[in-house]
Amino acid sequence: MKKINLPQAAKLTCPNPVTVVCTQKPDGSTNFATVSWWTYLSFNPGMIAYAMAKTSYSGEMVRENKKVIVTIPGAEIADAVKGCGSTTGRNTDKAEKFNIELADVEGSSIKIPAHSRVAFQCCLKEYHEVGDHYLYICEVEQVYGDEEKEALFAWNGYSQLRPAK
Ligand SMILES: Cc1cc2nc3c(=O)[nH]c(=O)nc-3n(C[C@H](O)[C@H](O)[C@H](O)COP(=O)(O)O)c2cc1C
Repeated sequence: MKKINLPQAAKLTCPNPVTVVCTQKPDGSTNFATVSWWTYLSFNPGMIAYAMAKTSYSGEMVRENKKVIVTIPGAEIADAVKGCGSTTGRNTDKAEKFNIELADVEGSSIKIPAHSRVAFQCCLKEYHEVGDHYLYICEVEQVYGDEEKEALFAWNGYSQLRPAK
């Protein structure tokens, strides 16, 4: 083996996971951000975590509202998910810009992409500084799934979004 850096390792660990983190903006609309760095933490109680750059607008929103829905996007919206990963919601309505069809989630004012395979409805329990990111540790309140939808994964590091098969 030879010495490599973390971005090179990310290419070797493909396909990498892809989520869309959905948070509420001050005007009530939903912001969407693409996040690969997520993990299950605990089944009982249900807990997941994800890491986001300190500068991300989504991070600001979840630290303020303590509510977030983490979704596994369906293959149909690959281009939109890529767009959500290269634009900040600070001054853009990503749902409109990337033409994302929205779905309601019971008991939540946060919307999700209608083409989602899984949605984890969460409340933020705590967050920790980890280098240039914050790690958001979330309690899962409800999980929704649709096995008819094919999940998206990131290939070639994070540059291409396609199903795993
Ligand atoms: C495939 C892919 C995976 C990404 N994974 C992460 C991630 O795990 N953590 C992160 O902070 N940003 C990640 N990004 C970048 C964010 O989605 C990007 O910075 C986005 O503009 C943040 O939006 P926001 O400012 O509206 O929160 C990823 C982008 C792509 C395309």
